[in-house]
Amino acid sequence: MPDTMLDRSPFLEGPYAPVTEEITAFDLPVTGSLPAELNGRYLRNGPNPLGLDDPGSHWFLGPGMVHGVRLRDGRAEWYRNRWIRSRHVAGALGETWPGGPVHAGMDAAANTHVIAHAGRTLATVEAGPLPYELSAELDTLGPCDFNGTLPGGYAAHTKLDRRTGDLHAVAYFWGWDHVQHVVIGTDGTVSGTTDIPVADGPMMHDFALTERYVVLFDLPITFSMDAAATGSKLPYAWNPLHEARVGLLPREGATRQVRWLEIDPCWVFHTLNAYDDGDRVVVDMCRYEGAYDLSQLAGQGPLTLDRWTIDPSAGRITQRRLDDRQQEFPRVDDRVVSQPHRYGYSAAVGEISRDTVLPSGDFTDGAFAHALLKHDLTAGTVEGHEFGRDSTVGEAVFAPSSPEAAEDDGYVMAFVHDPDRGAADLVVIAAQDFTAEPVARVHLPARIPLGFHGSWIAEP
Ligand SMILES: [Fe+2]
Repeated sequence: MPDTMLDRSPFLEGPYAPVTEEITAFDLPVTGSLPAELNGRYLRNGPNPLGLDDPGSHWFLGPGMVHGVRLRDGRAEWYRNRWIRSRHVAGALGETWPGGPVHAGMDAAANTHVIAHAGRTLATVEAGPLPYELSAELDTLGPCDFNGTLPGGYAAHTKLDRRTGDLHAVAYFWGWDHVQHVVIGTDGTVSGTTDIPVADGPMMHDFALTERYVVLFDLPITFSMDAAATGSKLPYAWNPLHEARVGLLPREGATRQVRWLEIDPCWVFHTLNAYDDGDRVVVDMCRYEGAYDLSQLAGQGPLTLDRWTIDPSAGRITQRRLDDRQQEFPRVDDRVVSQPHRYGYSAAVGEISRDTVLPSGDFTDGAFAHALLKHDLTAGTVEGHEFGRDSTVGEAVFAPSSPEAAEDDGYVMAFVHDPDRGAADLVVIAAQDFTAEPVARVHLPARIPLGFHGSWIAEP
């Protein structure tokens, strides 16, 4: 593993540079017209180091900060950004830690996702620590072990089955010889766990869910003490000795044995969605072909949007390229998670290295970090919404016009950096008119660093 991140991390610079203040702002200026049906909060989590005292740390390791905008009746009521108060963060801010359960001594300011379930708002992170519960206005309430029912740590990525209200996750932790499928019921407590034996302590950042299966990605990035000792301090690294495989864990039934299928070595951070198709399982994902260098966040091969059709009875996986533009942070309309989907949204990205923090090139080369993509996977078409050349945009989320609206009848939302103001806008795009001017831009009072994942949390 090259020890090249001992110098100042590129993730403290440019569009990744952390902000230094927590801000509360009301009645934000809007260009365009905010749809009145958007009533709720758009929240997004991401790392925001407290100081510049540890310049070697990896992007994934900074304490989480949640940025949120409250929309109501065509107005943008407020913007808030708040660090998650872990014990360390609370101490650094001169505050008293709210306290609560801790798994295996691993307390972390959860930096990866922010979701809502069973009346809670949760900031989540993987690899051992518990999520943190937040108030509606983003104040930290404390770590959450689901009323004492979670046996271990939790996960960054979750999948909500809207038919049942159950929240699914796959937790992993270097201290375990297994990963753990966890179901949180509608009462906000754990209704079931299943331990799945694995070798080498694999990183399982995301998974997929269908009506019948939990789809597991056991890929060759595994726990590594050597990697922990390098400048990036991230204790996971590519392990060519670890067999790459994908597993189907039946959600129901007396025998819940995982059906594992071997695949070529590759890396997958994120799935778009998955669904059952007869006896087969279809799963779409952003896939890095070949080896992946986690310390540099760089793949050896191309990053593409791919579809795997898994036939468990034949023991065969058919791979198909859906789009060869480089892209990440794939999202569907949350209402179709585990069900067939037609549309998907993703962020066009370039390779992030020490030399090119911001990729350059033409959008048609798929090498910009200032465009969002909309995929129509039935028609086989892709539309791009480009922002200004010096703008940056990360993950976008979809908000339906109404609970019963058609799959792409709604809005795509994302924080977009406006270089002219030196601050972020919450941009709202009509999904069915994807390349048109945004219907609204909410002008926020500060910059928002590029971060990870978020949610539109509608309120009735
Ligand atoms: Fe992720």
